[in-house]
Amino acid sequence: MSQSPSPAEAVHDADRSRQWLAGHAHGPGVDRDRLLEVGAAMAAVTAAAAEREPVAVASAPVGVDPGAPIVKPLPPELLRPLDTNAEMRWPSMAGQGYVVPVDRFFVRNHTLTPQLDPATWRLRLFGDGLRGAPTRDNPVEFDLDELRRLPAEEHAALLECAGNGRRYFAEQQDEPTPGVVWGLGSVGVARWRGVRLGTVLRLAGLRDDAVDVMPEGLDPDYVSGGVNLGRVRRPMPVAKALDDVLLAYEMNGEPLPADHGFPVRVVVPGWVGISSIKWVGAIEVSTTALFSPWNTQFYRMFGPGQPADGTVLTAQPVRSAFELAWDARVPVGEEVLLTGRSWSGNGPIAHVEVDSGDGWRPADLVAADRGGAWQRWTARWRPPTPGRHVLRARATDCTGAVQPDRAAVNDLAYLFDAVVAHPVTAC
Ligand code: MTE
Repeated sequence: MSQSPSPAEAVHDADRSRQWLAGHAHGPGVDRDRLLEVGAAMAAVTAAAAEREPVAVASAPVGVDPGAPIVKPLPPELLRPLDTNAEMRWPSMAGQGYVVPVDRFFVRNHTLTPQLDPATWRLRLFGDGLRGAPTRDNPVEFDLDELRRLPAEEHAALLECAGNGRRYFAEQQDEPTPGVVWGLGSVGVARWRGVRLGTVLRLAGLRDDAVDVMPEGLDPDYVSGGVNLGRVRRPMPVAKALDDVLLAYEMNGEPLPADHGFPVRVVVPGWVGISSIKWVGAIEVSTTALFSPWNTQFYRMFGPGQPADGTVLTAQPVRSAFELAWDARVPVGEEVLLTGRSWSGNGPIAHVEVDSGDGWRPADLVAADRGGAWQRWTARWRPPTPGRHVLRARATDCTGAVQPDRAAVNDLAYLFDAVVAHPVTAC
């Protein structure tokens, strides 16, 4: 979107990490010692094996059934429910276009989808990074019509959970998998339409010395390990906020669906999915660094080889998936057209290889996707013998990063990037 480069997430996180560890944390609900206690408790829980992160709903908005965390239908051929979340079934992408239709786009909810009234919804901006230092109680406000009247842009951007592929830590590497046990389906590309966050920040009176911006969701508070961590929120530097971040009110040409952030969500291209705050209600703008549990306690690498405080999450790694059912039946002796997609947080995919048991061969890349948010590809294969076969896809991105055979182990089981062994049966 913009000519000027925005800071890489990893670089920004490394900076903030140093400030946080030096005790410069700022903002309600983020006390370093408390978070370290919670972090230690979390590590104990996760070490205990494949337990889920405890999730509790502190307060449900009026009109929401807390028993139904997701509003849209979850047809089993399109989506697989996982607690408060749902992952896309990869076979449902076969024959689809570049974007993931809303009916099968994955949902990642820390608690549940709130039902918000667009007529009373307001975006509230506050903090000393805005002229006049408006407070949370007396913020600068925009309603939905005001946002819609501002210049709009539409971009295809990929959204992915850092825990995508987590289940293969257990299945392929025999490692514990705390948290949501995603297969490879917590990823998707959509066309997001909205107003640039930078436009709104400037209208709200952004000061030259503002440093960080922290959007906050209107879903219920998130409770983890018995601690109420407040509303889901995660900071980003002003430079990123002014670059390519959108306040989106449409997804794939339709008003944003409830589960994906209606009426307005943040879309932060290239950054880990948690940055793209749904149901955004408030944005703090600060002249000092901002912190939240979502960049200090979660979305950090803890575990073997890591310091007690953990290290920052790097960019999303390279991943690939076949658009094929697990244990699919394929006709022996007949040519099968295998299809799949690969993507990377570092940038576009350079090439993809497929191995069906007799070595790596290059896949054919769909030309139209070159340089895009993800890359579709195809590979022809004639299953030679009846019985079980294993398919593998391995991508290399534009930085030369290639999927390894084994993913690096970490306590919260993030960033699984190893090649996934996909079983099929020929008959
Ligand atoms: N924003 C709020 N308010 N609450 C959430 O639970 N989940 C985040 C992010 N934004 C979340 C949120 C995470 S972890 C991801 S991966 C993306 O939303 C998922 O977006 P989706 O549900 O539209 O696919």
